[in-house]
Amino acid sequence: MVDRKNRAARGYAESRRMRIEPASPESIKEAADALRTGGLVVLPTETVYGLGCNALDPSAVKKVYEIKGRPMENPLIVHIADIDDLGSIAESWTEDCEKLAKRFWPGPLTLVLHKKKSVPKETTAGLDTVAVRIPDHNLSLTVIRSAGIPVAAPSANPFMGLSPTSAEDVDPSIGEHVTMVLDGGPCKVGLESTVIDLSGDHPRILRPGGVTRAQVQAVIGRPLGHLPPPTVNRSPGMYPRHYAPNARLHLVEKLERGQTGLTFQDCEESGQIKMPEDPQAYAASLYRALKKLDIEGVEKIYVETPPETPECAAVHDRLEKASGN
Ligand code: TXA
Ligand code: MG
Repeated sequence: MVDRKNRAARGYAESRRMRIEPASPESIKEAADALRTGGLVVLPTETVYGLGCNALDPSAVKKVYEIKGRPMENPLIVHIADIDDLGSIAESWTEDCEKLAKRFWPGPLTLVLHKKKSVPKETTAGLDTVAVRIPDHNLSLTVIRSAGIPVAAPSANPFMGLSPTSAEDVDPSIGEHVTMVLDGGPCKVGLESTVIDLSGDHPRILRPGGVTRAQVQAVIGRPLGHLPPPTVNRSPGMYPRHYAPNARLHLVEKLERGQTGLTFQDCEESGQIKMPEDPQAYAASLYRALKKLDIEGVEKIYVETPPETPECAAVHDRLEKASGN
């Protein structure tokens, strides 16, 4: 307990080495210049904050892997500001791609497509496909447009940790290596984007997220397939333990007295956080709540299992991964 508390206190001290900047013409220009010239910037999106770099610059991309401690075989998502920019990084423009992009971009949907040669192998971990999305956040769209390059950005957390959903939640071990953390306020979705693979014969869901399976199926007019679990390195979101706080997480039906964690009950006990019942509001506050308990040095986090509804699929996915199931 003491160790964890010390670590948390040290985290706060380190955060002074991190530059958090609000949106302004100056910060936008500086962020765009940094990205264009091989630097790194933490950018807000509607899902989670991303550790951004020029997707076409292999050495900038390598820095991102190093800082995150992420294995090089895990491909990054490339962020663009306009649909027209897709042609510069992806080959395919299939009917499914067109329908999904038109319906959900800007938004929390990532499409995996055949890549153009201009996208370096470092960005796609050697795959001949590239994951792309247009984030629904004006500040980042302005920075990406002004940089004039596609921006590769994994979530701005150390490998396997919790993704930050506010500028203050960016881990100092990431924040100290970037030109700045651009503060775009709390993320309204709060969980990473849905990833759909459109590169094969049949569209498949690789990671559940802000856009539900049913919403995607309604647009493409047929059911989505799953990726078989053993091909783990095609999607790091598929590691058994991932998106995890430092504390051990346990899923339970109801929190008992004295148990620290997340509950739906009206609670007064310290160490218990009441979560919203609305699935979107729950998703938007989940990582923040887990992070808060982590910072307090809690060793076990008990989480009351949210209802098994399609709207909660992404929340269940992350909770199961955080608990190592
Ligand atoms: O919401 C999000 O997606 C956030 C924000 C910053 O945009 N980004 C994010 O990035 O969550 P990251 O690196 O933590 O997760 C990227 C996901 C992984 O599951 C990865 O395997 C998948 O996208 N991915 C990327 N490129 C791929 C490819 N070519 N084929 C299959 N999966 C790919
Ligand atoms: Mg991530």
